[in-house]
Amino acid sequence: MSDAKTALVTGASRGIGRAIAVALAREGMDVAVIATADSPAVQETVRLIEETGRKAYFAPCNVSDFAACGDCTAKLLEEVATIDVLVNNAGITRDKLLLQMQEKDFDDVIAVNLKGAFNMTKALLRHFLKNKSGTIINISSVVGLMGNAGQANYAASKAGLIGLTKSIAKEYAAKGIVCNAICPGYIETDMTGQMPQAAREKLQAAVPMQRPGLPEDVAAAAVFLSRAPYITGEVLRVDGGMYI
Ligand code: NAI
Repeated sequence: MSDAKTALVTGASRGIGRAIAVALAREGMDVAVIATADSPAVQETVRLIEETGRKAYFAPCNVSDFAACGDCTAKLLEEVATIDVLVNNAGITRDKLLLQMQEKDFDDVIAVNLKGAFNMTKALLRHFLKNKSGTIINISSVVGLMGNAGQANYAASKAGLIGLTKSIAKEYAAKGIVCNAICPGYIETDMTGQMPQAAREKLQAAVPMQRPGLPEDVAAAAVFLSRAPYITGEVLRVDGGMYI
């Protein structure tokens, strides 16, 4: 077992999750990569972490499955000495206007984006309490702050994450556990790549910095929060000024 700190990043097969995983490895942490299943993308994240000289672990887990989160973290904790940082990054979209939105579109998005963070936090909370230390970073969205037409399910899940973040922060501040949220704006990833060109242009036009964000821009904020022991319950926008 290594003496390094270990971070667990959900949804780390690509995009923002991968960038956070690699940035934390560059900071000297070993990293557990969580994704629903193994894939060439997962292996590429593992390779990028190992390239920094840190250890990478891969654990398959669907974060919307409460029991699976418990099993996955229990198995990981047999391999790693400790988990110090939890980044709840896994997220999905099922964008539709409310009139067209089906019950399943709503439930699926809440299950991954909001309940997934609850599931993973619950799975590691006793470990953090035992350590008298833990850093939780929830990847929300500016859409959780301002709402967005066509994303009622997603905006609700991301606003919910902010409430979850602040509540966890209040409950466990005295126990050495900090919990913060990052709200990315418009970041160039596979997720936003699926959007129609016109929608992407409209989003970019709303960014005062006049460029889309990169996954590395969000990773920089995660690195900052991973070593900010006196910050808790904070909601940090990484949006090029989109929601000023
Ligand atoms: P992405 O779609 O490129 O990556 C999402 C990751 O989550 C993938 O690795 C995917 O396999 C994983 N994932 C999905 N469902 C899962 C499940 N049930 N269990 C485990 N892993 C699962 O998305 P992107 O853009 O990298 O987004 C990452 C996070 O940042 C998401 O929570 C997203 O909502 C949030 N975000 C993204 C923004 C953007 O502009 N790209 C803006 C604001 C927030």
